[in-house]
Amino acid sequence: MEDARRPIAVFDSGVGGVSVLRALVDLMPNENYIYFGDSAHAPYGSKPLEDVRELTEMHVTHLLEAGAKAVVVACNTATSADITILRERYPHIPMIGIEPALKPAVLSKSNPRVLVMGTAMTIRQEKFRKLLNMYEGQAVIYPLSCPGLMEFVERGELSGRALYEFLEKLLTPYKEPVLDCVVLGCTHYPFVTDTIRQILGSKVAVFEGGPGTARETRRRLQQAGLLNPSSKKGTVRFENSLNMPEKIRLCRMLLDSKENVK
Ligand code: DGL
Repeated sequence: MEDARRPIAVFDSGVGGVSVLRALVDLMPNENYIYFGDSAHAPYGSKPLEDVRELTEMHVTHLLEAGAKAVVVACNTATSADITILRERYPHIPMIGIEPALKPAVLSKSNPRVLVMGTAMTIRQEKFRKLLNMYEGQAVIYPLSCPGLMEFVERGELSGRALYEFLEKLLTPYKEPVLDCVVLGCTHYPFVTDTIRQILGSKVAVFEGGPGTARETRRRLQQAGLLNPSSKKGTVRFENSLNMPEKIRLCRMLLDSKENVK
C-alpha cells in the first residue's frame, strides 16, 4: 500500500514532457508526480547517442533514488536512445517510454498523407525506422526533423512572429498536396500546435503521444499493483537541472495550459 503512494517520475530533456504530464494528471489525478526536466543539457535531439544515454540514465537513477515507483520517459529522443537499456537495468520498475503516435494517424483514414515531426535523433534511430516500416504501405509518410523548434518552447515562446516564420519555412514544402495528419513526435511540439495549424490549415488532424503514454502508464501500474488507492488529488513537484525559478514557473504554466491537440 505504502509503495503505491510513491510518486510517478516523469522525465524529459526539458519542459516539453509537461505535455505528457498533463495527460497523466488528466487520466490519474490522484497520483503524485515528480517531473524532472534536464534543460541545462537540452536539446538532446542534436547530441551524440552516447551522451543522451548517459544523461538519461543518470537522471532516471536519481529519480528512482528519490523514491519513484515508476518512470515515464516523456521524451521521444531519450526513449529511442535508451529505453531498452533502462528496462534491462531496472527490470522490476515500470518503465514507460513514448513514441510518435504514427499508428492512430495512419488508421485515421484510408491512405492518409502524414507528416511526422521529431528531433534529428528520433527520426534517425532504428526504433523510428521500424515504426515507419510497419505503416509505410498504408500511408504516405514524410519524416521531418525540426532542429531549433524545441528551443522556442524552452524559452516559453509559444506564439509570435519569430515562431510563425520558423514554422512557415519548415512546413511550407509540405503544404501541397494537402496533408491529412501531423504527428508531433517530440513532447515539446504540442505547445506550438496553434501555429502549426495556422500554417497547415485547421483541417489537418494533429496527433501527440501523451494520451497514449498516459493510458499505457495506467495499464502498467495496474498490472504491477501500483495504482495509488487514494481518492484525494495528488501533488506535482517540478525539478529542473537549470535550477531557475523561471523554468519551474514555465512548467506550471504549461501544465495548466489547455491547448487541445485533436
Ligand atoms: N522533448 C524531446 C522529445 O520528445 C526532445 C527535445 C530535445 O531535443 O531535447 O523528443
